[in-house]
Amino acid sequence: MKEFAKLIIDGKELTLPVIEGSEGEMAIDIRSLRQETGYITFDPGFGNTGTCKSTITYMNGEQGILRYRGIPIEQLAEYSSFVETAFLLIAGMLPTREELTRTSVYLNDFSLLHENMKGFYRNYPPKSHPMGILSAMINAMRSFYPELIDIDEDINKTYLRLISKIRTMAAMAYRISKGEKVVSPRPDLCYCANFLNMMFNNAVVPYRLDDDMVKALNIFWILHADHEQNCSTTAVRVVGSGKVNIYATISAGISALWGPLHGGANQAVINMLETIQKNGMTIKECIAKAKDKDDPFRLMGFGHRVYKTYDPRAKIMKKMTDVLLLKTKRKDPLLDIAKKLEEAALKDTYFKEKNLYPNVDFYAGILLRALGIPTNMFTVMFAIGRLPGWIAQWKEDVSDPETRLTRPRQIYTGNQIHDYIPIDKR
Ligand code: SDX
Repeated sequence: MKEFAKLIIDGKELTLPVIEGSEGEMAIDIRSLRQETGYITFDPGFGNTGTCKSTITYMNGEQGILRYRGIPIEQLAEYSSFVETAFLLIAGMLPTREELTRTSVYLNDFSLLHENMKGFYRNYPPKSHPMGILSAMINAMRSFYPELIDIDEDINKTYLRLISKIRTMAAMAYRISKGEKVVSPRPDLCYCANFLNMMFNNAVVPYRLDDDMVKALNIFWILHADHEQNCSTTAVRVVGSGKVNIYATISAGISALWGPLHGGANQAVINMLETIQKNGMTIKECIAKAKDKDDPFRLMGFGHRVYKTYDPRAKIMKKMTDVLLLKTKRKDPLLDIAKKLEEAALKDTYFKEKNLYPNVDFYAGILLRALGIPTNMFTVMFAIGRLPGWIAQWKEDVSDPETRLTRPRQIYTGNQIHDYIPIDKR
């Protein structure tokens, strides 16, 4: 166990404390560095920088390990439900039967939207991306549902209100975008079944709930529920550090998730596979383009900042997609293309040397297609799943005595001092 690290700068020796995590991860505590030496560290993208201590999720990128509150993701996917996993992440332990029942009752109680919120949707341009609508709607919740501070409500109800309403908002955005009547949530359906029913039920052809699809959606959202300090969770922690309300904080997380390098990758994967199919590109051509630095083509759904082996979530997603397509007797040509791409990439030196493997997004889109979810809703589906993680991380951050307002430093490389030049002398 190392207690400290020594740093020699300008002939001066500095002793810095070392922090060890419960899984043996080590960090050098540099909080005194600038004061002691005048130096800062430089780490764009924070790939080598820990921004917090956390008890929520453990990832080991070299071994492909992912655990929520110590429980392996494989076991949660096999035995748990999304609502139970959300409770685990936020409360820190699995619920008793009574706690789970009470949680489900609250999720039902909070599932309707304020009538005036529906006006938002109707005034959005028809082709608006659902992620932009969702981010705005979640932010608007602050105006419709004052939070804990205002009405001294149990903050857990605020969490459950968010988790319940994000699902209603997503389904409503989809129905209104299609010009279809909005379907209200049903108190007799569980969280995932309710979402599918609100998305697809209609008076002419009543939607038949399929247990395999409900199970697949539970697993999809369990796999997305948290992932330690990823881009959108970092956005939540950064925005939350300014002590703004939870709705604005979550809205920032949704905006950060939208990008194609992060949560938007599931939509980008399908767009990539459809382009390959439409243009009749060979697998060989795709792999060559992905490796070509001069070609903007990237193998979307491949590579990860932390996982340098197969993303454990991608393994589960791939298996579940096979099972669902088999059970629902559906074939998806994009799945065949995806599998051939994976097979070719995993044999290729470029991908092997750079430790590029399928990540959670590589098969996610194909599973969502099997559930009937439209492509432009894929990242919304990711956001619904990630919400419990964002809440748990925000809750941990605001109650951490070591948390400070996030305000990194920089190395200035701009102009040195020079005088203002009046416009007629330029
Ligand atoms: C998510 O952080 C999380 O936990 C995120 C997430 C979560 O649950 O929150 O797991 C969800 O965002 C998953 C990632 C989804 N994004 C994609 O699938 C987009 C495609 N992937 C890449 O853009 C990339 O792999 C990133 C952004 C995911 C990670 O990039 P890094 O860590 O910044 O690595 P890099 O871009 O520096 O790549 C290292 C090398 C580079 O080559 P060299 O410059 O060293 O020669 O690998 C190459 C890259 O060009 N590379 C790829 C590639 N990904 C990286 N080459 C081809 N195809 C790819 N997909």
